Amino acid sequence: MGNKLFIIALVVALAATLINIHMKKGETQYIFYAEWYDPMSATVKKFQLSFFPRDKSVEMYDLRAQRLFLKRLPVDGVEERDLYLGNTIVILSRQLKLTDYADATTREQITSRRQRTFAMVKPDAVHRLGEVIDVIQSRDFEISQMKMVQLLRSQAAAFYQEHEGRPFFEPLLDYITSGPVVAMELITTNAVKKWRETLGPTDSEVARQDSPETVRAKFGKDKQSNAAHGSDSDTSATREIEFFFPSSKVNDVMVPQTIAHLSHNTCCIIKPHTIAAGNMGGILNAIKEEGFDISALQMFRMDKIQAEEFLEVYKGVVSEYPGMVQQLMSGPSVALEITSIHGDETPIKFREFVGPADPVVAKELRPHSIRARFGEDKVKNAVHCSDLPDDGPLEVEYFFKILQ
Ligand code: CDP
Ligand code: MG
Repeated sequence: MGNKLFIIALVVALAATLINIHMKKGETQYIFYAEWYDPMSATVKKFQLSFFPRDKSVEMYDLRAQRLFLKRLPVDGVEERDLYLGNTIVILSRQLKLTDYADATTREQITSRRQRTFAMVKPDAVHRLGEVIDVIQSRDFEISQMKMVQLLRSQAAAFYQEHEGRPFFEPLLDYITSGPVVAMELITTNAVKKWRETLGPTDSEVARQDSPETVRAKFGKDKQSNAAHGSDSDTSATREIEFFFPSSKVNDVMVPQTIAHLSHNTCCIIKPHTIAAGNMGGILNAIKEEGFDISALQMFRMDKIQAEEFLEVYKGVVSEYPGMVQQLMSGPSVALEITSIHGDETPIKFREFVGPADPVVAKELRPHSIRARFGEDKVKNAVHCSDLPDDGPLEVEYFFKILQ
């Protein structure tokens, strides 16, 4: 009898230990519904996907087949911040779209830390874009949409319609259309309030006196030329984000569009890992310090087909090709059109500045190059740049004409 009890107790203890190893008591878990398009069967597979931040592991349950599809497994390249509705994450080479929350806790936690606001670097501060991005990234804002545009006067008037009739309205339109602006959607907890605090008071001179660490204090000049914009409420944020980044494709002349020069240029792609690591600002600063101009800029999210298409010339030529495709589809990247006083020579000069494809080699041979400074390995080598002068315009066109 005693023996039996002992065995039962042992079995119970063992089971408890096993469960504990699998999932620590009270461990945070996010649960989503996710979809994956299976090209083999040409069907959409639906899963329930659990993510455990403790060890960045994932478990997947096939909803149609009603069985475990993937036993809990740590995955590379998926972070807690990647988990939100509508986003696509890559697990075991499959691009999975997160279509819904599968429980209330996941919904509450994710929505509270994914509030949105609209930010715009104004014409007077675009030459210091890298530094502004550094502030944004150091304060834990995620940049989820971004594009550089030259506003038309009619667009500027519509954007600032609340100020129509004020004495500063016409001068404000002159100022805001005097050069390109960089529009961004920022995401974090309490995004609207946090970005307004980061910006500081409207008048840059007041900002320098009252809050010298703010963006307007550091980069602005006066009451008008104050470096950047920030939405003043959630309602304004929604309107302003929709103004620059419409949620559905509309063919409206009022939507500001990125326009590339498309000649004497080269293409540079800031890769997803660089952006995730908070190095976008550093790279933009480096490009500027080296004397290159950024004549077009936009954030893109590429799917597998687009990444393969863009990198096609490397297929079967470079052994890293599959890794390069995976890297490009792993998150948002930023495409840049680079121009310079070097004219036709721009692609060659820029390539030199980017450095050898392998950051290890780059660190040895060209320690000042972008890849030496920001690259990790041959796949995560900070940026892509056009190989041959003829490729520059084609690659720029791929982003700014075809993908856009
Ligand atoms: O941008 P913010 O919300 O802080 O200020 P606003 O009152 O909404 O004004 C919008 C923009 O108009 C400011 O950021 C300034 O660039 C400009 N402005 C101006 O030129 N003169 C003023 N007296 C007030 C605003
Ligand atoms: Mg305002």
